[in-house]
Amino acid sequence: MKGDPKNLGFSTRAIHAGQQPDPATGALNVPIYATSTYVQDALGEHKGFEYARVHNPTRTALEVNVANLEGGLSGHAFASGMAAISTLMTVLSAGDHVVASHTVYGGTYRLLTQVLDRYGIASSWVDSSDLANVEDALTERTRMVYVETPTNPMMEITDLAGAAAIAHRHGAILAVDNTFASPALQRPIEHGADVVVHSATKFLNGHSDALGGILVANRQQDSEWFAFVQKSAGAVLGPFDAFLTLRGIKTLVVRMEKHETSGRIVAEHLASHPKVGRVFYPGLPDHPGRAIHERQASGFGALISFDLGGFAAAKTFLDRVRVMSLAESLGGVETLISHPASMTHASVPAAERQRIGIVDGLVRVSVGLENVEDLLADLDAALAPL
Ligand SMILES: Cc1ncc(COP(=O)(O)O)c(C=O)c1O
Repeated sequence: MKGDPKNLGFSTRAIHAGQQPDPATGALNVPIYATSTYVQDALGEHKGFEYARVHNPTRTALEVNVANLEGGLSGHAFASGMAAISTLMTVLSAGDHVVASHTVYGGTYRLLTQVLDRYGIASSWVDSSDLANVEDALTERTRMVYVETPTNPMMEITDLAGAAAIAHRHGAILAVDNTFASPALQRPIEHGADVVVHSATKFLNGHSDALGGILVANRQQDSEWFAFVQKSAGAVLGPFDAFLTLRGIKTLVVRMEKHETSGRIVAEHLASHPKVGRVFYPGLPDHPGRAIHERQASGFGALISFDLGGFAAAKTFLDRVRVMSLAESLGGVETLISHPASMTHASVPAAERQRIGIVDGLVRVSVGLENVEDLLADLDAALAPL
C-alpha cells in the first residue's frame, strides 16, 4: 500500500506496516538486503545506512512493523529471543534488582540467576498473579518488574495494569514477555508496560523456520539505549530471518484465530479426560486468572500444560504421539509437545521446579493448525496405555 497505515486495522497493519514498495523496482515485498555495508556517495554523504550491524532495511521493516502492532515507539530486532532479553537487561547496572514472575521461560531464569548475578544484578522470583507478592519483593534497588502473562509453562496470569502501577510507583519499569499471546491477542503497552519482549521464533514468525527476538520500547530513553546496544553488542537479526518473520506476521491474525479455536477444543478435551490430572489453560472456567486475562487480552491462545502424574506416565505418553512433534519451542503451524522439567525448564533447579509446579508429570502442548480431530485422536491414542 502507499502511505502510513498507522490508523488502519490490526490485520492491515500486520500486512503493511513498515513495508513500502521498493522505490527502485516497485517490488511488493521488502527484499532481503544481503549486504554488510553501504557505499557512500561522498565522504560523510550516505543514505542513512552505513554498516549492517547498525542498519539493515529488511530488519528495519520488521522493527517498524512490530512496534506498530504493539503500539510502541520503536522496535529492535535481535538474533534470538534471549539476545533481546539480554539487551533489555542492559538497562540495569550493578546493584540493581529485578522482580520477576517465578514461572517464566527457563532461559530467562538462567540468564538472570547464572549470568547477570555475576555482574551484581539481583533478582527475586515471585508469583506475580498475586500483585501483593510483587509489592512485597520490591526494594529501593528494584529497577525492573519483569513478567510473562500467561507464564511459561504454568499459564499464570498477571494483571498488567496493576503491575505497571506498582512498578511506576517505585520508579521501576515494567517489561512484559508477550511471546505466548502475541500482539494479535494482547498489547501490554496499552496496559502501561514500558517494554515488550518477544521470542519472534514463536507465534510472530509462526512457521518454526527462524530464530529471532524483538524489543519494543515505549520510552524515548529505552528506544535510544536499545539502538545503542544493538550497535555496541551486535546481537542483531540477519536479513533473511527478518524477511521470514515479516512474512510470518502477515498471517498472524488468521493463525492466532485458528490456534485459539483449536486450543480451546484441546484444553476442554484434556480437562474432561480421565487419564489427565490438572490442566492449565487460561480459557478453562476454573482458571484463577481467567477474568484478568479476559480484561487485558482478546483470546486465550494455544498453550496448554497438563499433569500426567509422574515422569514415567509423561514419557509413555510423549513417546507415543504421532501427529504432534516432541520438540522444544512453540507457536508454529505444527503442534509441538514437550516435557518442561527436562526440556525448556531443565535449567531451573529441581527443588524450585517442584515449588512452582513444574512437576515431572507436566506436559506442555502448543496447539498448531492441523485438523483438530487428528490432534484429539493423537492425544487419546497416546493416553490410552496410561
Ligand atoms: C516465553 C519465551 N520467552 C523467550 C524465549 C527465548 O526465545 P529464543 O528461543 O528465541 O531465544 C522463549 C523460548 O522458548 C520463550 O518461550
